[in-house]
Amino acid sequence: MMSDNRGSFTSRIGFVLAAAGSAVGLGNIWRFPYLAAKNGGGIFLLIYILLVLTVGIALMTAEITLGRKTGLSVCSAFKKLNKKWAFVGVLGAIVPAIILPYYSVIGGWVLKYMVAFCEGYGATTAEDSFFGGFISSSASPLFWYVIFIGLVTVIIIYGVKKGIERASKILMPLLVILTVIVAIYSIFLPGAAEGLVYYFKPDFSNLSWNGVLSAMSQMFYSLSLAMGIMITYGSYVQKKENIETAVTHIALFDTAIAFLAGLMIIPAVFSFMGPEALNAGPGLMFITLPKVFNSMTAGGFIGATFFILVFFAALTSAISLMEAVVASFQDEFNFSRTKAIIATLIICVILGVPSSMGNGAWSGFLIMGMDFLSFCDYISNNIMMPIVAVLTCVFVGYVIKPQAIIEEVELSNVFKKKKLFELSIKFFAPVCIFIILVSQFV
Ligand code: TRP
Repeated sequence: MMSDNRGSFTSRIGFVLAAAGSAVGLGNIWRFPYLAAKNGGGIFLLIYILLVLTVGIALMTAEITLGRKTGLSVCSAFKKLNKKWAFVGVLGAIVPAIILPYYSVIGGWVLKYMVAFCEGYGATTAEDSFFGGFISSSASPLFWYVIFIGLVTVIIIYGVKKGIERASKILMPLLVILTVIVAIYSIFLPGAAEGLVYYFKPDFSNLSWNGVLSAMSQMFYSLSLAMGIMITYGSYVQKKENIETAVTHIALFDTAIAFLAGLMIIPAVFSFMGPEALNAGPGLMFITLPKVFNSMTAGGFIGATFFILVFFAALTSAISLMEAVVASFQDEFNFSRTKAIIATLIICVILGVPSSMGNGAWSGFLIMGMDFLSFCDYISNNIMMPIVAVLTCVFVGYVIKPQAIIEEVELSNVFKKKKLFELSIKFFAPVCIFIILVSQFV
């Protein structure tokens, strides 16, 4: 828990793993591949990587260092440094409350597929109509959503978080290994070559503002930035820790997994379905992967293992999302832990149920042309996170000044890329984010 007995990560690898555990989740495996597929493949990948290297790393350095400097979580950290900027902390704290419900809806989908594969009817899930039938039936997705959020809640209440995190330290490397295996398999599927070209060759004619916007929002989402999470993590980091290398490791690791997930899914789209399916959206992973497993020897077993591992990745991320929301209620409103958990669950009902039903019985209910799940995703990732990110850059670049961050980083080591950091946080990142943010309205 954040408020009582603030410990710290005892080893470097402990911190990198914990932060990577929060970063690696459905964002890498479910969200990245469908966005890359939809937004031009290679060009999306290129822009994504460039954004991680410039904006992402600078922002993550700033957030983790802010946390370590103040020793506080997001709302209080901004408040302590400058009262007028406290609202940025509050904005950041709202984001996880919007993400958690729909994240758990997708978590429920994963659970459904996991159970299907474990019960041995994985082959059924590979049928063309399976996914559509599943999400458009209202009861089943809602049922799995409730199970998923229930599990997360039970874990938070009984404080067995530690055990889950320990388990995920073994399971996450397994997920990486399995992803590599499935990716290699996908590359050699008949017809996959076309997909490889699509994924690797940046084709500038596929470039759109919307694609750039998606790449940027995905970068924030996948690295868990612009929502205070990394500030909270940073508050547990010891003064002797080398923040610069830790950030580089986390960012590269997270990006590598997203890249592999794309490699697993995009060539398979070409092999089994053809380029029309690139536009499938949030369902892409659920439509494509069962077909891949179905075509493999021992595919039932591999599929079951894969979905179990993805489920764990989703679970650990959902736990830290929920913990963030609960902690904000406790800190900001002085709620007791029980009251904070109940408040969080109320939000999960209000936002989660329509997110789940929006693909089925309530699919006629659109906001700005989007179903409710996509709308929550849009508001949090494309609007709120860029706003929080720009404000964080301005805050660090012009209010507390980059030097404050540099000094804190240098408590342990020389900050090698400090010039680049300063340039990025003062000019490049805020200008880029601002332009991309505004581009969606014009
Ligand atoms: N980065 C996570 C993923 O890729 C999603 C996420 C965003 C997250 N913000 C978070 C997870 C905060 C935990 C805490 O799936």
